[in-house]
Amino acid sequence: MGQVQNRAEDQQKIYQRWAPVYDRVYRGILRDGHRTLARLAAGAGTDILEIGVGTGLMLSYYPRRSRVTGIDISEHMIAKAREKVARHKLFHVRQLQVMDAHALAFEDRSFDVVCLPFVITLIPEPERALDECARVLRPGGEIILASKLSDGAGLQGAIEEAVAPLVRRVGWSSSFRIRRITDWAERNGFDAVQILPVFPNGFFKVMRLKRRAPDA
Ligand SMILES: C[S@@+](CC[C@H](N)C(=O)[O-])C[C@H]1O[C@@H](n2cnc3c(N)ncnc32)[C@H](O)[C@@H]1O
Repeated sequence: MGQVQNRAEDQQKIYQRWAPVYDRVYRGILRDGHRTLARLAAGAGTDILEIGVGTGLMLSYYPRRSRVTGIDISEHMIAKAREKVARHKLFHVRQLQVMDAHALAFEDRSFDVVCLPFVITLIPEPERALDECARVLRPGGEIILASKLSDGAGLQGAIEEAVAPLVRRVGWSSSFRIRRITDWAERNGFDAVQILPVFPNGFFKVMRLKRRAPDA
């Protein structure tokens, strides 16, 4: 079933409201996912693009030797991230820009890793955004994402569908199917090499997609 996703403009409005309080609400809940994602990203390369960087909660977890670029569609969330970078002297963060994940203003093959922390399920056309991630990724690069990814099975799947419209109004998603990502990966020459359950109790998952070698 196709679900109605938030449009980009809706996300901007929703996250304008979230920006002042986001860190207080989500820092603790998302910490394990953020740390795990940043650790895996650092293991996959130095030039890192973070899509939907938000208020920059994950930025301090990357090692200082990395070179991080962050983009987000919300200027209010990016403003918070800029404050954080200045306050904590996060010199490994090279640039933070307002940008839509559907149309990345970067050259092909610019990054070793593209991270999507808690954002893929909110993007109106996730496959188009993943196409963009693949375009800006170097050969052998990785796309690593964290989100509430479900297989949609059983009672849990039914509940996730039922509450989806309510959850969407506060800028989240409950019913995004993991299959959407694995199908995209299969079609586009990526392997899902790792899926890690993270806090709370596997509710969120971190997933690594690695580009297949051309002759594999
Ligand atoms: C749930 S927040 C996650 C923020 C941050 N990644 C974190 O983990 O704390 C989702 C973020 O994705 C951003 N976002 C939503 N749609 C986007 C799009 N099409 N392009 C870029 N960023 C987007 C929102 O503005 C918001 O900052």
